[in-house]
Amino acid sequence: MKITIFGTGYVGLVTGACLADVGHHVLCMDVDQGKIEKLKNGHIPIYEPGLESIVRHTVEAGRLAFTTDTKEAVAHGTLQFIAVGTPPDEDGSADLQYVTAVARSIGQYMDDYKVVVDKSTVPVGTGDRVKAAVRSELDKRGLELEFDVVSNPEFLKEGAAINDFMKPDRIIVGTDSERAMELLHEVYYPFNRSHDRMIFMDIRSAELTKYAANSMLATKISFMNEIANLAERLGADIENVRRGIGSDPRIGYHFIYPGCGYGGSCFPKDVQALTRTARDCDYDSRLLNAVEAVNNAQKHVLFDKISHYFNGELKGKVVAIWGLAFKPNTDDMREASSCALMQDLWNAGAIVQAFDPEAMEETQRIFGDQPGLTLCGTKEQALKGADVLAICTEWKEFRSPDFETIAATLKEPVVFDGRNLYEPEMLERHGMIYYAIGRGRNQFHGG
Ligand code: UDX
Repeated sequence: MKITIFGTGYVGLVTGACLADVGHHVLCMDVDQGKIEKLKNGHIPIYEPGLESIVRHTVEAGRLAFTTDTKEAVAHGTLQFIAVGTPPDEDGSADLQYVTAVARSIGQYMDDYKVVVDKSTVPVGTGDRVKAAVRSELDKRGLELEFDVVSNPEFLKEGAAINDFMKPDRIIVGTDSERAMELLHEVYYPFNRSHDRMIFMDIRSAELTKYAANSMLATKISFMNEIANLAERLGADIENVRRGIGSDPRIGYHFIYPGCGYGGSCFPKDVQALTRTARDCDYDSRLLNAVEAVNNAQKHVLFDKISHYFNGELKGKVVAIWGLAFKPNTDDMREASSCALMQDLWNAGAIVQAFDPEAMEETQRIFGDQPGLTLCGTKEQALKGADVLAICTEWKEFRSPDFETIAATLKEPVVFDGRNLYEPEMLERHGMIYYAIGRGRNQFHGG
């Protein structure tokens, strides 16, 4: 089947590559000329395990191509996927200008039946706006061409994007058209063969499903962080509590890991956007407000612990940071807890020696000119000359480090762990002082 994808960001590129991989003929369009040139030359602008090889072999096989030409893009696919960005406005609502611009282009250039598939995360009601934008362009051209609009939100996780796309838990399709339903069924057939994962519904419910899923996951995390903060004050260990509640299948073990806050391109943005949507229909979502507030506070918990340890005297102290990406297996630092910690440390006059297995270039791009920051090539190098160590991301290579070396290299053998990677007793045995999240009374430093 012939498919066009607008937008070569995370969602667009992964969707395009995976659809081409199973045999569809895909043309990816982006207005960013530099990005398209790079893609044509086989350079992938993001770090995503497995993506590069799929792009390479589907391009070689002639099933995946890239363009900046809108007219060519609209002409190519019966299915026109919109996967452009929806960045937050100043007030937190999703900015739809890129989505509607694509919809208008489709209306301007289409000359046969098209299905416009919305894959970007968009507020409820966007399907109607997309329909109106296409229709108004067709009206200007005096054409009465048929088209359908589908909401098909994407649930992939960064770092596991290929696997999530190839083996989806569910494929949500929101549409009011039988014809579009059949086409979507055909497109996704290769991912849907062993058992039926497709769930058909109306457009608005599909749009809300995406926000509800991400907000539910963010709520689980904020809830656990709240309980972790309580555990510190009560002398309980959140890791025992986590195991204790996770064993109840109604709660489950997923997404109940406490830490120094969630980040990324989705949870913070989507919780905010849904809060905003609620407000727009005169509903004050107290729960969503709280989820966001808890997370914003949680991003400063590590700093509070470090500051308390040094009695608020951080000027000139050197803090090694392991992990800068918002989670492992990505170089993405959007809304990462590490950024909040570094900013807090700089504000207090401290110096940061930072290491991440993948996000060093990204750190250089964002904080390159920042005084008080040294970028380190290895995790060991980050420790040299540092007073203490803080951990913001649970990369595999941080899970069993050489504790003897850490203790011997740091000026003070203290670890502030924002991801609960270690057993407190183990670090004590190595003569270290260990502060983690929600692990007993000595962790609490509040008033
Ligand atoms: C998320 C959703 O999982 C995905 O379905 C959606 O399509 C996009 O948003 P992503 O942002 O890639 O994916 O990352 P995810 O793995 O969900 O982690 C998000 C954040 O939550 C990370 O900062 C992670 O550290 C944090 N997290 C996750 C926790 O703090 N505790 C947990 O138990 C799980």
